[in-house]
Amino acid sequence: MAKPLSIEVYNPSGKYRVISTKSMPGTRWINLLIEQDCRVEICTQKKTILSVEDIIALIGNKCDGVIGQLTEDWGETLFSALSRAGGTAFSNMAVGYNNVDVNAATKYGVAVGNTPGVLTETTAELAASLSLAAARRIVEADEFMRAGLYDGWLPHLFVGNLLKGQTVGVIGAGRIGSAYARMMFLKANGEQPVTWKRASSMEEVLREADVISLHPILDKTTYHLVNKESLSKMKKEAILINCSRGPVVDEVALVEHLKENPMFRVGLDVFEDEPYMKPGLADMKNAIVVPHIASASKWTREGMATLAALNVLGKIKGYPVWSDPNRVEPFLNENAPPPAASPSIVNSKALGLPVSKLFEKGHIRLAGSIQFTREKSTMFLFLLREGGGRR
Ligand SMILES: NC(=O)c1ccc[n+]([C@@H]2O[C@H](COP(=O)([O-])OP(=O)(O)OC[C@H]3O[C@@H](n4cnc5c(N)ncnc54)[C@H](O)[C@@H]3O)[C@@H](O)[C@H]2O)c1
Repeated sequence: MAKPLSIEVYNPSGKYRVISTKSMPGTRWINLLIEQDCRVEICTQKKTILSVEDIIALIGNKCDGVIGQLTEDWGETLFSALSRAGGTAFSNMAVGYNNVDVNAATKYGVAVGNTPGVLTETTAELAASLSLAAARRIVEADEFMRAGLYDGWLPHLFVGNLLKGQTVGVIGAGRIGSAYARMMFLKANGEQPVTWKRASSMEEVLREADVISLHPILDKTTYHLVNKESLSKMKKEAILINCSRGPVVDEVALVEHLKENPMFRVGLDVFEDEPYMKPGLADMKNAIVVPHIASASKWTREGMATLAALNVLGKIKGYPVWSDPNRVEPFLNENAPPPAASPSIVNSKALGLPVSKLFEKGHIRLAGSIQFTREKSTMFLFLLREGGGRR
């Protein structure tokens, strides 16, 4: 028999058994579950990615709900195991759920939760950081400095791109893509507003933009959305940022493109075969690579844990589903008890779950004067600084 995985147990006498496949930041999520009579079991095994077999062992014979991670393969096997153990709730601790077979979950009557909104600004901030770092070659320059190679100011030393006046394209203009666009409005006091337009095609974004940031979901329509052909349409000195999911970019084609176009730069938070990089990528000076940290701010990660726990709790307790997953702020207020609802269940309609009436539309306003979220168009182009208003 396989060795059991190590776990930490909170509130052992709780009526509902909830498992978290990983330790998650903060304690609010644990307390919220305990207060509602849950026994919380956290897997503390020193193994970064749990296998399907590991998770089956964790689920055991009786399990009401599981909080899982985007590195895990939640398909037919796990949902049938969860259902056999009496479970009806699963939540990813992530907004993206390309690791989850939602149809299989629905087949077994399991609600699938995700964590929208709470990571929007944090993820957009990383995309903006990578855009600026790539434009100004910050990582290369830092390595050069640390290697003791700096022996005095030179006119050609680490010359990069000026973003002011350039065109920024966003592919996947949902919550995060729109937040990124707001951040890239580098508007100084008294200057003309940045102009923007909705691009008519991806081709237009590829050809016109100096910086392109990718923020779509990963599904069949976005797999290798950026490939050899699309890269060849981009400007030779363009910057490409990916904080969405690795397979949105054909990484082999990208490595070739980086080799052939030394002034083309890329900032990657995600990779096609995480945790690995395709051969050659690590050697490319014109690539900045970070280990999938786009949502890694303390507030966001604690909030993600809270939303994931409340998704599971809500289903276990038979609460309705929150009516607008774009407005989950009431669940994140630490000074008040959360609403009696699941914040975001992606298969709620398929499962016929009731919708909460607690939320009144217009009660919560999103920050920022321009609200792009949920526009039909998925692509925007922005011209930084120049012009006046919409093109
Ligand atoms: N790197 C990270 O740590 C990290 C953190 C958060 C989110 N993400 C990724 O970012 C994604 C977006 O999150 P969000 O909250 O903004 O989601 P969202 O649903 O608000 O936005 C996704 C956008 O993608 C667009 N889209 C769908 N298919 C498309 C296509 N074929 N071409 C172009 N656009 C298309 C949709 O219209 C929508 O506007 C998530 O699904 C997740 O995979 C990554």
